[in-house]
Amino acid sequence: MTQEVIARSDLDLFADAVLADPYPAYAELREAGPVVWMDRLNAYACAGYQEVRDVLNDDATFVSGRGVGFNEVLNEAFTGTIIQSDGDDHRPLRAALAEQMSVRGLAPLRERATTMADELVLGLKGKGRFDGVADFARVYPLQMVGELIGLPEEGVDQLIAWGDANFNVIGPRNARFEASLPIFGECFAYIGWLHEDPRNRLREGGLGWALYDAADRGIIGHEQCPPLMAAYLVAGIDTTVASISFMLHLFGSHPGEWDKLKANPQMVSRAYNEVLRLASPALCFKRVASRDTEIGGVPIAAGSDVVVLYAAANQDPRRYPDPARFDISRNAGDHMAFGIGRHNCAGQSLARMEANALLSAMVIHLDRIEIGDSRRHLNNTVQSLGYLETRFV
Ligand code: HEM
Repeated sequence: MTQEVIARSDLDLFADAVLADPYPAYAELREAGPVVWMDRLNAYACAGYQEVRDVLNDDATFVSGRGVGFNEVLNEAFTGTIIQSDGDDHRPLRAALAEQMSVRGLAPLRERATTMADELVLGLKGKGRFDGVADFARVYPLQMVGELIGLPEEGVDQLIAWGDANFNVIGPRNARFEASLPIFGECFAYIGWLHEDPRNRLREGGLGWALYDAADRGIIGHEQCPPLMAAYLVAGIDTTVASISFMLHLFGSHPGEWDKLKANPQMVSRAYNEVLRLASPALCFKRVASRDTEIGGVPIAAGSDVVVLYAAANQDPRRYPDPARFDISRNAGDHMAFGIGRHNCAGQSLARMEANALLSAMVIHLDRIEIGDSRRHLNNTVQSLGYLETRFV
């Protein structure tokens, strides 16, 4: 049965006030109906756990290839890339790095990841106050991604700014989009520079090198190397940094949960899932309906845009009772912070390896995490912290 009246909203999902704390707005949308027509975006939005799951799992109906972003400039630039392609076009792009990005493929890095995590935590312990974002959360993923991809030293210090710009230009054409567009361009200029002479500019044995091997073997075209490199470079840093910052903030503000983890160190990966559920870095992407269909009984015409609110779904009380409560005993392994279905995050094993190595090092070496002032960093499609006063004891 279809619903006669479709809920609508004139909310600006990308306004500063919403991005500063999106959850009240998300709750409003979720309560309004299974999908809500968003006047400002000319699109439907779904914020409920089941609806988001259904849309993401049905990638033949809700396609990515017609635009995952909220403006035409970006959607044109992303045409045919891993995140914005479907079916047979998407498969080889995903396969090109699947082995290296799998748990098995990442195994050689694990020891190094643990050593680096120990060094970082011990280096900050007893140092007094530091910025948990700049001095901790950003340091580790930058180093890991730089090493994994095999980047030269040039450029690595720009990766945070480029990642931030990438996630801003996915949003609508607001002030954040305009300010980020030139920075996004710089990132592509850098990747173009790597592409001119990859065998000399990338380290042999890294993921970047493997990409060019895949192109030489005909698995993907050479022209697909730069956008794939971009996907792995910029998609993987801000999101991971955000999750590590939230991890610090949540444990610093919930000493009871920290004590529980200290007493049960085997709960590290479960605890990281709860962090990702409660503070999902990726807020939203878009899909387009390829045929007439429905979501939760609401008819959706072919060609309609559908906003998928990952972070909202992960705080749906119908799936997670008392969803705003941080509880590492909760079994949150079915959260959708990494998406789900064919386009689920290609780098999630790396993100998990990094965060779990850091959290394990914290559990081993720290008695307490103390936090003070914090500031949000506003971005159109990723939620994160810009500053977090921290002390490791
Ligand atoms: C906590 C950290 C991360 C979060 C929360 C996250 C989140 C996501 C989400 C929600 C998607 C799905 C997009 C969609 O449905 O259209 C995605 C896709 C993707 N992610 Fe991540 N990500 C993280 C880390 C990483 C890392 C470390 C890398 C690589 C180094 C990476 C690379 C990618 C790529 C290449 C895709 C596109 C996959 C495809 O379309 O087949 N991500 N990510």
